[in-house]
Amino acid sequence: MYREDFPLPDVTYLDSACMSLRPEKVIEKVNRYYREYPGCSGRSSHSISQKASKELEQARRKVANFIDASRGELMFTSGTTEGINTVARGLDVERVFLTEREHNSNRAVWQELGVETVNMEGLDTDFLESELREGDLLSVLHVSNLDGKVFDVEEACRIADEQGAYSLIDAAQSIPHRPFSVQSIEPDFVAFSGHKMLGPSGTGGLYVAKKVQEDLSPLKYGGGAVENSSFSGNERKSFPQGFEPGLKNIAGFTGLGAAVEYLEDIGMEKIQRHEEKLTDEIVRGLEEADVKVFCEGPGIVSVAFNSVTHGEAAQYLDRRDIKVRAGRHCVHPWFNDRNFDGTVRASLHLYNTEEDVEKFVKEVRKLSRL
Ligand code: ALA
Repeated sequence: MYREDFPLPDVTYLDSACMSLRPEKVIEKVNRYYREYPGCSGRSSHSISQKASKELEQARRKVANFIDASRGELMFTSGTTEGINTVARGLDVERVFLTEREHNSNRAVWQELGVETVNMEGLDTDFLESELREGDLLSVLHVSNLDGKVFDVEEACRIADEQGAYSLIDAAQSIPHRPFSVQSIEPDFVAFSGHKMLGPSGTGGLYVAKKVQEDLSPLKYGGGAVENSSFSGNERKSFPQGFEPGLKNIAGFTGLGAAVEYLEDIGMEKIQRHEEKLTDEIVRGLEEADVKVFCEGPGIVSVAFNSVTHGEAAQYLDRRDIKVRAGRHCVHPWFNDRNFDGTVRASLHLYNTEEDVEKFVKEVRKLSRL
């Protein structure tokens, strides 16, 4: 549906878990910044700068509303990785609880910082109830980028809160594809990326609940985040401005605001149902093929071939204008633990069609017989 809103020529694009396509409306919004109000937000007082500030704060309000948060609870970031790094470096935690499916973005930084990690297969409520304690952080993904598995983060965040632990949700693969509300899930932190939700590259957000804002220190310090300074120190602005020093990606964040408007106009329930339907069709279509299929939820189907390597398969598909990702999808431990070197992954978004599914299924079946 809506494929005509996206300017990319006629290819079967099945790599939205990595990077979504962008509709004309988002591209136009980015262009408008450079053409109409290319000023510096939050600093100069002339009208061009004021317009840039106004547009930026409107974008913040739209993106915050999209996840049921308030404007004062959302900082802009360059993406999920920066969001998680902000929490990892700015929050004092003793141990971090991770699932085995975490993306490298939610593992490498903890390893580099030397924080003790507790690795879990999934979100076992009894385990969380008995193990989580004050000073810990539960830092888990909502939807897996490997196979679409959906985790019950609402229950997990409730337990974390009861135990006095913090909670961080990696929502990179959920916010772009399904309704998401911080008021129902009640996490302390949520990190997400703009480029997976039809927004510009280098954009994203970090939700920080009001009650934990005082516990978090910024990742970066500098201009625009300071209320006043002297030779001996500075007074930092409160969240979120105090956490966003330096010139912001105004074009990108206003584009992210436009992406959210576009998604809302269509409706997240409708997008979710559409992806569920197409996912079922892929899985059914591959039932007879000589491949192993990994699919635990909507939007993502990973395939392992007996006949060819994942790299060969991706090249074969690319030559037929089917764009997929191959490899270990930045979740190396999950694959390494199984002595398994990767899959070909088809990941969907609202613009995919029945024809995309048919084409993918047909070519995978052919490849499996080689
Ligand atoms: N997380 C992104 C993906 O799975 C990079 O492709």
